[in-house]
Amino acid sequence: MERLEAAMVKARAARQEALERARAAKGGAKGVEGEGPEVADQNGDQRADLAALPPVILSPDLARRQRLGALLGQGPATPHDILRSRVVRQMGEKGWKRLAVTSPTTKCGKSTLALNLALSLARYGQFRILLLDLDLRHPSLASLLELRDPPEITGLLRGGKLARHGYSYGPNLALVPNGLARIDSAELLQDATTLAALDRLEAEWRPDIVICDLPPMQGNDDTLGFLPHVDCALIVAAAEMTTLPQLDRCESEVGQLTNVLGVVLNKCRYTDRNTGFDQSYY
Ligand SMILES: Nc1ncnc2c1ncn2[C@@H]1O[C@H](COP(=O)(O)OP(=O)(O)OP(=O)(O)O)[C@@H](O)[C@H]1O
Ligand SMILES: [Mg+2]
Repeated sequence: MERLEAAMVKARAARQEALERARAAKGGAKGVEGEGPEVADQNGDQRADLAALPPVILSPDLARRQRLGALLGQGPATPHDILRSRVVRQMGEKGWKRLAVTSPTTKCGKSTLALNLALSLARYGQFRILLLDLDLRHPSLASLLELRDPPEITGLLRGGKLARHGYSYGPNLALVPNGLARIDSAELLQDATTLAALDRLEAEWRPDIVICDLPPMQGNDDTLGFLPHVDCALIVAAAEMTTLPQLDRCESEVGQLTNVLGVVLNKCRYTDRNTGFDQSYY
């Protein structure tokens, strides 16, 4: 157990160092070559062009079927837009880039929330967002996007090109679904090759925020092992489903491994007037 804790402390320190290096290099870096065409952003920096990725088509009907309120605008988008503003502010203040989404138990709505957050963030034209389906046991981004037969994400995690695994939505959102579930997902997520591939991907595509959709904390060690390699995490709890002891335990475990950005209470059927959204102000 002590050795495990020591390994996690080391991984967190390595992530912190990588972040410091990225900060120091910011401004001077002109993008890494090798991932296809590059474009200049508003600051004149060169980054690989998302137009090289096949586009996904997300219709309003699909948005309603898959609970993608962020695509529908106005009322349905409001909770996601409020969340994105908080995320951007907190991550921006600290210079954080990699955000994990997890929950105490299954089916709290992590994947739906991660995709809605990515879609909402992408509407800020100046941000480049990368969403990775890293719930390798139960991948679901492909079904949320209603994609047939997407590639296995394992190829990307073994050093493959984003252009062969990713899809684009608009000019600044890259989505990486996974076409095949893995039972060795914990090992794969913690593998040095995977971590190096993620670092390389970030260096090449220069996203402002990378959202990693992860499995729940209870039931396997996938998320436990991966959290030291992100900058912060959002915890998704489901109303009338997640218990307080489950949430307490999850928050304390996540907090030992990375920075807890916040807890989102999802699936609320009832809101009180102090915390709910003002539905008359769209
Ligand atoms: N805000 C919401 N209100 C009601 N239902 C929701 C909400 N968000 C998600 N759901 C539904 O809950 C179910 C689980 O959602 P989702 O797959 O996003 O959860 P998850 O936490 O990623 O699950 P898993 O643990 O299997 O990865 C889906 O049927 C989804 O449509
Ligand atoms: Mg999920």
